[in-house]
Amino acid sequence: MGRKLSVHLLPDLCPPEILRGGTAVVIDVLRASSTIVTALQNGAIAVSPCGSPEEAESIREQYGADQVLLGGERGGVRIEGFDLGNSPAEYTREVIAGRLLAFTTTNGTRALLRSLSSRSILIGCFLNLSAIVQRLRGETGDLHLVCAGTDGVVTGEDVLFAGAVATELGYGSADDWEPNDCTEMSVRLYRSVVDGSPDCCDAVQQFLRETRGGRNLLSLGFDADIRLCSQFSEADVIPEFDAQDGQLKSAGRD
Ligand code: MLT
Repeated sequence: MGRKLSVHLLPDLCPPEILRGGTAVVIDVLRASSTIVTALQNGAIAVSPCGSPEEAESIREQYGADQVLLGGERGGVRIEGFDLGNSPAEYTREVIAGRLLAFTTTNGTRALLRSLSSRSILIGCFLNLSAIVQRLRGETGDLHLVCAGTDGVVTGEDVLFAGAVATELGYGSADDWEPNDCTEMSVRLYRSVVDGSPDCCDAVQQFLRETRGGRNLLSLGFDADIRLCSQFSEADVIPEFDAQDGQLKSAGRD
């Protein structure tokens, strides 16, 4: 048997001891992962994932208001007093380049903070799919694809992306992976969505609109975010958590 390739449908379903020594990819397609990738792609110095708005505010006090932007959401909308919400479109180069982002979201940042026992933590979404896959090919040790879900409920968009990563890593065509059952389930989901479709992005976008997270965004008027978050491999950054300072920084491909 080869390396483990495990999909975890929710952070609560992967206890810290399972992650120890492996690489975790934290997945919150709608929208925390997509926003973090966009912020770093557009020149943010780093993203500091925070468990609460108060923690984000204390980072701004520590570094100074001219260095730090506060970003994130509760209930999908910008937190009162914050500079930015959780819409990737807000994180343009003009806004974010050269700044540190103190960022807190309901599920995505929590999923990351629950994965701290792994050897390395990366952030993945459709926007950086090919960069993530290339990086994972060069990793040794077990791989864990950790879906953030929404408030403890499994969300299709995260499972779909886990299936995309497993498929691109060659699961199913090469026998050197040791999957868990959720790996097989996520790959079947991904294939059922994209196989036979003339345009994978369109097929993913259509699927995202029908998930709970997608429907929630549509009801809040964030239709454009769904389009943005279903673009494949537009970014080449791989956000990687630095345990020394608790920040996500942009790592290159291996
Ligand atoms: C989250 O982390 O809970 C999500 O990214 C929510 C959202 O889309 O705003």
